[in-house]
Formats: sequence, structure tokens, C-alpha cells
Amino acid sequence: MTQIGDFNPFNPGPGESPPYLAGRENEKDQFKQRLARMSAGRSPGTEIIMYGPRGMGKTVLLNWLEIEAQRGGAEHNPIRTSWATPDELKKPIHMWNCLLPMNWKKLLKPIHWGTKFLIFSVGWKSNAAASPALVNTLIKECKKRPLVFLMDEAHTMDAGLCRVLLNVSQKVRKKAPFLLVLAGTPGLSHFLTTVNASFVERSDVIGIGRLDAQATADAIVKPLNEHGIEIDDTTLAQVVEDSQHYPYFIQLWGAALWDLAKQKDLQKLTAQEITEAETKVENRRLNFYEKRRKTLSDLGLLPAAVAIAALFQDAETTTMDTLIDVIADNLPVDSHTTQSVNEHLQTLIRHEFIWNPPDSILFEAGIPSLMKYVLDRQREHVQKVSPASRA
Ligand SMILES: Nc1ncnc2c1ncn2[C@@H]1O[C@H](COP(=O)(O)OP(=O)(O)O)[C@@H](O)[C@H]1O
Ligand SMILES: [Mg+2]
Repeated sequence: MTQIGDFNPFNPGPGESPPYLAGRENEKDQFKQRLARMSAGRSPGTEIIMYGPRGMGKTVLLNWLEIEAQRGGAEHNPIRTSWATPDELKKPIHMWNCLLPMNWKKLLKPIHWGTKFLIFSVGWKSNAAASPALVNTLIKECKKRPLVFLMDEAHTMDAGLCRVLLNVSQKVRKKAPFLLVLAGTPGLSHFLTTVNASFVERSDVIGIGRLDAQATADAIVKPLNEHGIEIDDTTLAQVVEDSQHYPYFIQLWGAALWDLAKQKDLQKLTAQEITEAETKVENRRLNFYEKRRKTLSDLGLLPAAVAIAALFQDAETTTMDTLIDVIADNLPVDSHTTQSVNEHLQTLIRHEFIWNPPDSILFEAGIPSLMKYVLDRQREHVQKVSPASRA
């Protein structure tokens, strides 16, 4: 009999790699093709933008890409990777430290250093910060050794610095194997458009949404089986449905099932045991929803969120025009301007309440069932303040 291991292999948490990375076959294929071109010394093509609501697995995919780049290119023309998040990247100096492997400051002529230093550290402008000397050095370095530059949470980047980075990327990738990959929440698309109007159109945009049913089942079953735990088909179907195919909830479920099997020393999980795990998952899920609801409330977006949630009760998707109407109806009359309505829409997108995947003009719910939670809480609230409405 296989012994259940001592540590829980499931990993519910931001950026935590799952024991089995399920689905994402198309995305992985796309990345592999780019890496193969780079490994052969060719330009990989346009930048990659990856966006989707939190908890869908963007960071985990960046991790996969980083490992694949380092592994895949190792025999021939090894690929270098550099990973950054906006909080580490405040000035062009930090960006160049990530892009160039050597002490690049020496490359700037001493006579220019004073002004360059000022430009870099205080009032830098995008052209100056993308100095030709540095761009040319990066081209040379990438020809020697290709570079994949991964930027997570890119929607929180400083706009000026982001402009510099896009500028550098467009110059370098045309001449050398350099690939910029930006990942972020659904607000990333709008953010990048404000930085450079046509950048998103010219890039390869990948939407990271929920997994399909088969991938969800694999993500749960494979690690359990590997640790000697079986699960019957009906129970598995129940878990798959309850997870809503949302990667973060999948890991919550996997972790709860594993704990249960370990606690009770079970080799096979059936519907009988599932209720206990369900309570555990539900508690963590409610906590997660409540935090998101509070954020919406703090931003003054709760009335619009409730109205949108009501709209989604009978529909899986909706149009931007409908959303705009609903938001306008739920704003105070004095902030009814087109600009204010659009800003509210963008904030709801930034906070992942709604999003539209890149291949669709229709909007869908961001985090699954958050809408239902928001609606349920609102109903409870109304009943509390006016018990008569219960009738
Ligand atoms: N393809 C996948 N299969 C199984 N679990 C996944 C998958 N992608 C992500 N996860 C899990 O989902 C959670 C969220 O992943 P993360 O990469 O942090 O999402 P994001 O960066 O989009 O917020 C993590 O617990 C991770 O282990
Ligand atoms: Mg992430």
C-alpha cells in the first residue's frame, strides 16, 4: 500500500507552483515556439501580453516559461532569463540592471555621465533612458545569449518606465533574440494602451482564464494518485464542479482533500468524506470573497457591483454598453459624466470583478461566484435593515 506523504503537495497561494500544472497546452506551445526561434538565434517576434483575473495562474505560467527557457536552450545557445516586478523597478537604472548582465554604467562616456546620471535618476525621459549605447549593447548581448525578460504584475508599473521598456523592447527584438513578456490583471490592457496607444494591437495577447473540466480533474487527481490517494468518479465530478475550474479554488480543494485523507488515513475518498473538506474550502473561499467585497465597498463601487451581479444572474456574458448603462444608473447624479462612468468601469476591471478575454468583445465575471457572494450579502443586508422586505 502506498504511504501518504508527510507534506501537502497542493499549493493554494499567489505565485505558488501547483504539484501538477494542468491545461494551458496552447499557451505552452506558443511559448515553446518562441523559445525555439530564440535558441536558433532568431528574433522571437512581438512582445507577449498575458492577462487575466487573479488566481488564474499567470505567475505560475511565467515560472514555467522561465524554467523552460533555461532548460530548453541549455544545449545550444542558452537562453538567459530575467524576472522583475514593478516594486523592484522604479527607475531606468533598475531596468538596465535587469536587462544587461555586465556593469553597464561603464559604457556611458564619463563626459556624459553627469547628465546621464541625472536623467536616469531624476527627470529621465524615455528617449534618453533608452540610450543608443545601452540599446546597442543589449542587442549585442542578446545575439551572444538570447534574453527572455519576464515582468509580473505589469499593470502596476510606473507609466514612464513602462514606456521606456516598450521602447527598448521594440528596438532590440527586431535585431536580436529578445522577448518581453508582460503579465498582469485585466487592467493591464488598458494601462498599456495609455502608455502606448498601439502597443497592445501589435503584441501577442493571451487571456488566462479558467481551466476546462478535464484539466481541473487532472490538477486534483494526478497529485492525489501520486501520493497513493484515490477518489471515486462521482466525488471527483462534484469537486470539479464546485471548484468552478478556477485554479486557486482547485488548489484549495486539493489541499483539503489531501489533509482529510492524511488525517483519517484514507486511501480512497468518497462522497461521505467530502462534506468535511467542503466546509474547509468554503471557509477560505468566503474569506477571499469578503476581502474582495470590502475592496469594492472601500472604492465606492459596491452599488454598481451589485447591479452588475444582478445582471449576470441570468447571463454568462454582457456587452460594454450594458455595463456602462448599469454603472451610470448606480452613480451619484453629480458624477454621471462619461469620463467618470468609464473610470468606474476600468476600476471594476482592474479589480477583476469583470473582464473581457482578448478574443472576445463580451465581458464575463472575473473571479467566479464573487458576483453571487456580493448579491447574497446585499440581500442579507437589505433584510437586516428592512425586515418587512422578507415577506
Ligand atoms: N494550470 C494550473 N493547474 C493547477 N493549479 C494552478 C494552475 N495555474 C495556477 N494554479 C494555482 O492557482 C493559484 C494561483 O496561481 P497564480 O499563478 O498565483 O495566479 P495569478 O498570477 O493569475 O494570480 C496557485 O495556487 C497555483 O498553484
Ligand atoms: Mg500573479
